[in-house]
Amino acid sequence: MRKLLMCLLFLLPAWLCAADFVDSMRGPVPLDQTTQPPAMANTDNSDVRRARNYAMQPPVVPHKVDGYQLDKNANKCMMCHARTRTQESQAPMISVTHFQDRDGNFLAELSPRRYFCMQCHVPQADLKPLVGNDFVDVDAMLNKPAAQPKKK
Ligand code: HEC
Ligand code: HEC
Repeated sequence: MRKLLMCLLFLLPAWLCAADFVDSMRGPVPLDQTTQPPAMANTDNSDVRRARNYAMQPPVVPHKVDGYQLDKNANKCMMCHARTRTQESQAPMISVTHFQDRDGNFLAELSPRRYFCMQCHVPQADLKPLVGNDFVDVDAMLNKPAAQPKKK
């Protein structure tokens, strides 16, 4: 009897917590139930290149990539973004860093570690962000009036 009571004492709160837990990405759906995924977003296809938030940011993709094959057999992105294709496509060339291996040596071709473009470059959609963000652009930071030194 004592054992049973102890069990209840410990298990009950855990069970209650699990039922109350809300993950902002999942919404108010209990963990033991499957969520209803949101409708697929209509991604930006404006062809307008967006400013980067910091110098080393992988630029976001300003065009649709639906149905582009990107696997071990073919890389659709390189059909326009490869060095030899840009004159015809008028797409910006993959940058020099994409030809470098991890030790900084330059290769003749796209480095394997840059093969899967969408690890880093993603299309954009006009959606409500899932998580908060208080990122401040470095330019905004530099333009902020300097804090006045404390008077003695
Ligand atoms: C049919 C040619 C074509 C294909 C295929 C293509 N792109 Fe593009 N991409 C362009 C062009 C042209 C631009 C310049 C802006 C525009 O016109 O959309 C561009 C722009 C971009 C940019 C923005 C660069 C910047 O400096 O802002 C990124 C990132 C990009 N593409 C990534 C990709 C990825 C990733 C894929 C494969 C999933 C891909 N592209 C496939 C033609 C292409
Ligand atoms: C591991 C992350 C990563 C992968 C994978 C990757 N890129 Fe990038 N890409 C970046 C970063 C970071 C930059 C910006 C800094 C730089 O130039 O390296 C960039 C820059 C670019 C640019 C802009 C070049 C310029 O000079 O304006 C294009 C276009 C681009 N990438 C296309 C591609 C394509 C196409 C692929 C796939 C074949 C690819 N990238 C794979 C990280 C990545």
